This record gives sequence, structure tokens and C-alpha cells, in this order.
Amino acid sequence: MPDSTTIKEAVREVYSQRIQEGSSCCGGATSTEIMLYGEDAITTLPEGVVTTSFGCGNPIALASLNPGEVVLDLGSGGGLDVLLAAQRVGLAGYVYGLDMTDAMLEVARANAGKVGATNVEFIKGEIESIPLPDNTVSVVISNCVINLSPDKGQVLNDVFRVLKPGGRVAVSDVVIDGDLSELPVSEEQIRSALSWASCVAGALTVDTYKGYLRDAGFTDIAFEIQHRYSPENLFSDTPEDLSKLSPEVISELVQRFASMNITAVKPAGSR
Ligand SMILES: C[S@@+](CC[C@H](N)C(=O)[O-])C[C@H]1O[C@@H](n2cnc3c(N)ncnc32)[C@H](O)[C@@H]1O
Repeated sequence: MPDSTTIKEAVREVYSQRIQEGSSCCGGATSTEIMLYGEDAITTLPEGVVTTSFGCGNPIALASLNPGEVVLDLGSGGGLDVLLAAQRVGLAGYVYGLDMTDAMLEVARANAGKVGATNVEFIKGEIESIPLPDNTVSVVISNCVINLSPDKGQVLNDVFRVLKPGGRVAVSDVVIDGDLSELPVSEEQIRSALSWASCVAGALTVDTYKGYLRDAGFTDIAFEIQHRYSPENLFSDTPEDLSKLSPEVISELVQRFASMNITAVKPAGSR
């Protein structure tokens, strides 16, 4: 695995370029977003806001947000989930979007301006070191971002720190259903043939992800498959790498990578 600085630089570069080009990732596209979020939710926002989405699920539906809640979106990108969350928490609530990529923050702030949202703030920073105080957030959401971190354990520890006791996690992420064993090529070869920035090479297995959540202190941990990946999604950045793997390995891989809904709770009595 490349070192963490190299990974973050590569991810930042890819997403700067994608937002500037208006392309999408992780199977995301306007029609896909309508499928994920539903036309009713999507049509509450201007079209230009929706096409700047790069997600792989619908953390807003998962989070069941209430008026007055404080929400943090990890890796908020162009701001679609922040703006949808802002509608749900209302003016008594507040939504923070956190992202490390300047070009994304610029678009997100412009999108907030287009919508006239006053209960949102886009902060520059890294999800491994969240620039918010302890015990201040009601709900942490995220859409296809935690897999991109080189230190997912640290991300989940910091999520636990900023959540209020009783606060919850509602995340969409790419996860490996099962593991990458019992294939004719090693896990290392598979991961090196996949793209980190396209949300697949860095994906955790369900068991490892659950272990990090438990170690951080979370309870009520649940994973549910949202949709599985196609070969086109898995190899979207590096289709030439398909030739490194046999058709049998590819069809096995496609069954193992999935976009999942992940929920967990910070116990009410914890600090
Ligand atoms: C796949 S995009 C998802 C964007 C957004 N959640 C959405 O649904 O459209 C990943 C985003 O996470 C940001 N990101 C990736 N790793 C990050 C990190 N370690 N810290 C902060 N932001 C990160 C990228 O800059 C990018 O905007």
C-alpha cells in the first residue's frame, strides 16, 4: 500500500480534477443520484448542485434527521448531502461539511449560495483530525469517503470524539462483502489493480470495519448492502488493468465489492 501522504495527494488531485471537469465517481451520475435519493428530494435542489455529486449511497435517508440536529458530513464534496441535510434539520439545526480539497469546497460554498442555505458551513480539513470540539455533533454522515482514508481507525475514533453521547453514524461506503481470500491471485495483486481514488482499492472488509467501530466505542453497529459493483465501476479509472486479472477473478470480485449502509451509535453514557 502507498504511504498515507501519497494516497491523500492522489485523492486530492483526482477530486480537484473531477469537480473541475464535472465528471462523477463510484457509479455516481445524475440519473444514479435520482435513483439513490428519489426524484422528490433531488428536485428540491437546482440541477447544477445535483450533478456535482460523487456519492455511492443515500446517507440522508439512512440518518432520519430531525429538526434542530447538528450534522457533520465527512468528505462533503460538492455539498449535495449537506444541503439536503440542512433542509431536514431546519434553521434550529446546523450542518458542517468537511473536505480537504479546495476545488470541492469552492463548489460546495457556491452551491450553498445558489440554494440560499444559511445553516451550513464548509470547513477545510481532514477526516482523520476533525476540526470540531468533543461531544458537539448529533449525527455524522458520509458518502463514499471513509474508504479513501489511509487511516480509517483514526477517522472512526475522531468521529466518536466529536459525537454527543447518544449521537449516531449514518454512512454510505464501499465495503468488501466477505474477504479477498480464496482467489487465484493475492489480495495485494487485486488491490494494486484497482483504483484507490475510485473508492475500491482502499475498501475494508465488513469484519475489519466493524472491528474499528467497536474499538472506537460504538454500539448498535449494522451493515446493509445497498448495491453491488459492476466491472465498469471497479475498473473505471484504469480499465487497462482489467487485463491483469482473469475473467473468473473479475466476476468473483464484482460479487464482493458493495456500496453499504452503515449505522452505529455512541452510547448515551460515554464521553
Ligand atoms: C467520492 S468523493 C464524495 C463526495 C461527496 N461525499 C459526495 O457524495 O458527492 C470523496 C470526497 O472526499 C474528500 N476526501 C477524501 N479523503 C479525505 C480526507 N482524508 N479528509 C478530508 N476529505 C477527504 C475528497 O476531497 C472528495 O471531495
